[in-house]
Amino acid sequence: MSLNDRFGYRAQMPFLVRFASSTQDRDAAYALRRDVFELEQHIPRPLDRDAFDFSADHVVAFDRGGRCVGTGRVVRTDHRTCHIGRMAVAREARRSGVGAAMLESLERMARLRGIREVVVASQLGSEPFFHARGYRRDGDVFEDQGVPHVHMRKLLLVS
Ligand SMILES: CC(C)(COP(=O)(O)OP(=O)(O)OC[C@H]1O[C@@H](n2cnc3c(N)ncnc32)[C@H](O)[C@@H]1OP(=O)(O)O)[C@@H](O)C(=O)NCCC(=O)NCCS
Repeated sequence: MSLNDRFGYRAQMPFLVRFASSTQDRDAAYALRRDVFELEQHIPRPLDRDAFDFSADHVVAFDRGGRCVGTGRVVRTDHRTCHIGRMAVAREARRSGVGAAMLESLERMARLRGIREVVVASQLGSEPFFHARGYRRDGDVFEDQGVPHVHMRKLLLVS
């Protein structure tokens, strides 16, 4: 596979999305979460780590310079359902397709585990991002850490 095939190209920002397979990958992901949720969004309870991280499948996105510019995780909730969350893209790397490529990878991982439905707790501001990828609102707006959120669901097609 060539470099061009492996890297996504859009808005002239090449990146590579892959499974977070090492401690270094995960540490880079947690550091990015800290940058985005704690420093940028000032979410009071840090979202850098929790107990679900041990059982989750994680993805990371790296730019050509080897900098981690994206992360997300999928947590299985029962035999047919999972929760995709902790999605974060570095501010300067947004709107370049990184988030969409990571979401696609996380859904693929869920499918491989036999999952049929994905739930996300989306920040209200990110609802259009998930909506454009097939997620639909389920329930009323609620506050989490002072940030308005909405639950959204998507059925995965059986391939
Ligand atoms: C939400 C987030 C992960 C999206 O990542 P991204 O890399 O910017 O998204 P992409 O570039 O892949 O965008 C994909 C599409 O969604 C759209 N989109 C992305 N973020 C959007 C937003 N906040 N509002 C409206 N549309 C948005 C893009 O325009 C793009 O549409 P297109 O494919 O038709 O051009 C990113 O904005 C982020 O990290 N935000 C801060 C943390 C956060 O809110 N995380 C979500 C917690 S629920």
